[in-house]
This record gives sequence, C-alpha cells and structure tokens, in this order.
Amino acid sequence: MAEARKIKAPTGKLGVLMPGMGAVATTLIAGVELAKKGMAEPVGSLTQLGTVRLGKRTEDRPPKIKDFAPLASMGDLVFGGWDLFPDDMYEAAATAGVMEKEYINAVRDELKIIRPMPAVFDARYVSKLEGSHVKKHASLREAAELVREDIRNFKKEHSLDRVVMVNCASTEAYLQPREPHFTLEAFEKALDRSDPAIPPAMVYAYAAIREGVPYANGAPSLAVDVPALAELAKEEGVPVAGKDFKTGQTLVKTIFAPGIKARMLGVDGWFSTNILGNRDGEVLDDPESLKSKEVSKLSVLDHIFQPELYPELYGDVSHIVKINYYPPRGDSKEGWDNIDLFGWCGYPMQIKINFLARDSILAAPIVLDLALFLDLAHRAGMGGIQEWLSFYFKSPMTLPELYPEHDLFIQQMKLKNTLRSIMGEDVIHHTGLDYYE
Ligand SMILES: NC(=O)c1ccc[n+]([C@@H]2O[C@H](COP(=O)([O-])OP(=O)(O)OC[C@H]3O[C@@H](n4cnc5c(N)ncnc54)[C@H](O)[C@@H]3O)[C@@H](O)[C@H]2O)c1
Repeated sequence: MAEARKIKAPTGKLGVLMPGMGAVATTLIAGVELAKKGMAEPVGSLTQLGTVRLGKRTEDRPPKIKDFAPLASMGDLVFGGWDLFPDDMYEAAATAGVMEKEYINAVRDELKIIRPMPAVFDARYVSKLEGSHVKKHASLREAAELVREDIRNFKKEHSLDRVVMVNCASTEAYLQPREPHFTLEAFEKALDRSDPAIPPAMVYAYAAIREGVPYANGAPSLAVDVPALAELAKEEGVPVAGKDFKTGQTLVKTIFAPGIKARMLGVDGWFSTNILGNRDGEVLDDPESLKSKEVSKLSVLDHIFQPELYPELYGDVSHIVKINYYPPRGDSKEGWDNIDLFGWCGYPMQIKINFLARDSILAAPIVLDLALFLDLAHRAGMGGIQEWLSFYFKSPMTLPELYPEHDLFIQQMKLKNTLRSIMGEDVIHHTGLDYYE
C-alpha cells in the first residue's frame, strides 16, 4: 500500500472567490444554497455524489469521495468575487436567467448579501462589455496589489481559514504567450510598466498566487498557463489548474471520440456548431474573444485521435467548430455535431448529436469540485500545475514537455488514482489477472 500524504484537516471556513460573477458563478452559488436547504441535489458534482472504489472488487469498499478524502463541506463555503457590474447575486442570477425565479427566490436572502468587488477591467480584452464597477489604478502592479488587498479583507471579514479562486470572467481576446509571460522577472516588470500584454485574467491569477490562494481558470483566456505564473505557483507551493470548463459540446466530444478510437473506427470529419444567447455568447460575438474559445475547443480531437500514430484512421480529419450568438436562446444553448466516420473496408457512417443544455448547469458543479479539490491539494502540499484535474477542462494544463490528456475516461482514472495515492490506498490498474491466476 502507498504511503498517505500528510493532509491538514479542513477546519474552519473556505472562501471561494470568483473573478466574474455572471451566469456560472450565480448558478453555482444558488445551487449550493439550495442543496444546503435540501431543496436540490448537487447533480454533476463528483465531490458530492461520486464514489471511489478502494482495493479489490471483492472487498466491497466504494466510499463516497467526500467521505474518503478530507474535503471542505458545502456548508463551510463562503462566496465572493469581482465583477464590472455592481449587481448583487440575486439580481445577477435574474439577469443571467439560467434558473427559474421560484428557484432563486428560495435563496433570495443568501444571494442578496453577496455583492461583487470592483473589477480589474481592460476593454481591449473584452470589447463587448462596458461596466462602471471597476478599480482605478495607476499601474497594473497597483491593480494586482488592490486584488491582493481584497483577498486579505475578504478573508478577515468572513473569518476564513482558507481561500481559493476560480476564474469565471468573460472570455478575453486571444493572446499568444510572449516575452513578458516567459519569466517571473519579465512579468513583474511588465506589471510595473502596465504592459498591454498583461490582461486582467493574469492580474487576478498573479494576485491569487502571491496570496497563497489556489487558482483555477474556467475561461479560455490566457492566464496562469504562461511560464512566469506556472513557475511562481511552483515556487510558492500554490496549486493551479486550467483552462476552460469542459461542459457541453467538448464534454460530448471527449466522451464520443475515445469510444470511436477504442474501436479503431476512422474519422473523415467532425463538424460542430452552436447557438447561444447569453452574455458569454455576446462576448464571443467579438472575433478576438471567439478566437480564444475556438482555439481551446479545437485542440481536443487531435490529442485524442493521435493522427501521428494512426494516419490511416485520423490522418486527415476535417474538424470545424462554429459558435453563433443567437439572443433568443439565452443560456439554453444548442449544439449540433455531425461526425463522418468510416469502418471495415472504408464503408462510411454518420453520427449526429444534438445537445440542448443550459451551459451553466453543467459548469456550476465543476466550479464546486475545483474549489474543493484545489483546497485539498493545497492542504496536501501539492503546488504548481494539478494535471489530475484535467477532467474538468477543455484545454488541460500540463508541463511543457507533456501532451495534455483529453480522453474523459483516462482523466477520470487519473483523478481517482491521484485521490487513492494521496490517501495511501493502492492505485487501481484494472488488469484483474490476480482474480484468475
Ligand atoms: N457556461 C459554461 O458552461 C462555460 C463553459 C466553459 C467556459 N465558460 C467560461 O466561463 C466564463 C463565464 O461564463 P458565464 O456564462 O458565466 O459568462 P457571463 O457573461 O454570464 O459572466 C461573466 C462575468 O464576468 C464579468 N467580467 C468580465 N470581465 C471581468 C473582469 N475583468 N473582472 C471581473 N469580472 C469580469 C462580466 O461582467 C460577467 O458578469 C466565460 O469565460 C466562459 O467562456 C463557461
């Protein structure tokens, strides 16, 4: 049996800070409050409903993950964050329109008391939004200091033991890593001179790490996934993960594609299109923000199909992803996938998938799980990139020399085996030969 890590107990309260308090953030908070009142189940959350098999199949030990690993409980969470609109979480949830009024009315008081702090905002990175609730700062360095101060005040005001941050802010314009992102020294100099290469998402990430606050990036924006910040996180022993929550269409892709590949069926093309009408969709109506999302969505199939190993099956896949802003839909997104595949002797086949879902209903439990797992990782002394949380992301962060694992089932195994390993249980390799030999 492996040796268990020393993990500090989750005593006291855990703050969950979110830059961006729109549809995803309000759906998370409302759902947690409803669950605490016994009015809803935390469906979609692995930490709350998932189990983990321990030992051999004959041992009958499948505890719930939350009973096995020392996670903070939902009752210990305190929510907060930043937004460029000053609305409290009740008003913001009503604007987002994800949940019906009768749901959010049931937790009205709990939502009303949460108001976002003023945002660090740069319209060059999100050109579709204009808000008044923003910080004034002489430099980006000062902006980062203000966010750090917010974190400390939030912790003090709510008597918190620990804090984590999950980025739920709008998608920023596409950015390629460049010189100010490569080393910590260059990054900090860029903060001092307010270099436009530093977007708000990076300012929040930097402030979090400097405050010893674990950080996950739920947006496709370039944030902690640059060498300067990954290096800082490692140095400071702060867990970080990203990026872009794996929800609707990409979730479906990472469920279907591994199955197609497992059966060695070939693929000629995969056409994906979406309509959505929420504020996220409006932001993505800007070509620069759209590019961040498209790049994040496109990388998935290449990594799963490994065309370099299977040129006869996946050497020439035409993969197209379209996202269209269509206001009547609000948060009720619709995605269509058409997969042109081929089988024995090259015979063609097609699969059509039509997925209708409220995006934030899929994203909210991911934020909850990330907050709890990042906090666990921190208490277990695991700093830097947390690849075992790839399960939750469209573009999983890894060390530069490693390719990301996109297959949902490998990601799930990695996550559960990491839990087993840090808790001193044997990892499960699934050969099963010992039962027969
Ligand atoms: N909903 C999903 O299923 C899903 C899936 C994957 C990724 N995401 C990503 O999560 C993020 C949030 O999605 P959403 O549906 O909640 O969007 P949303 O538009 O409802 O909420 C985003 C909020 O961020 C705020 N914001 C923008 N820039 C900010 C800044 N610099 N600081 C603080 N606040 C800022 C906006 O005012 C808005 O209220 C987006 O980046 C989206 O692409 C969402």
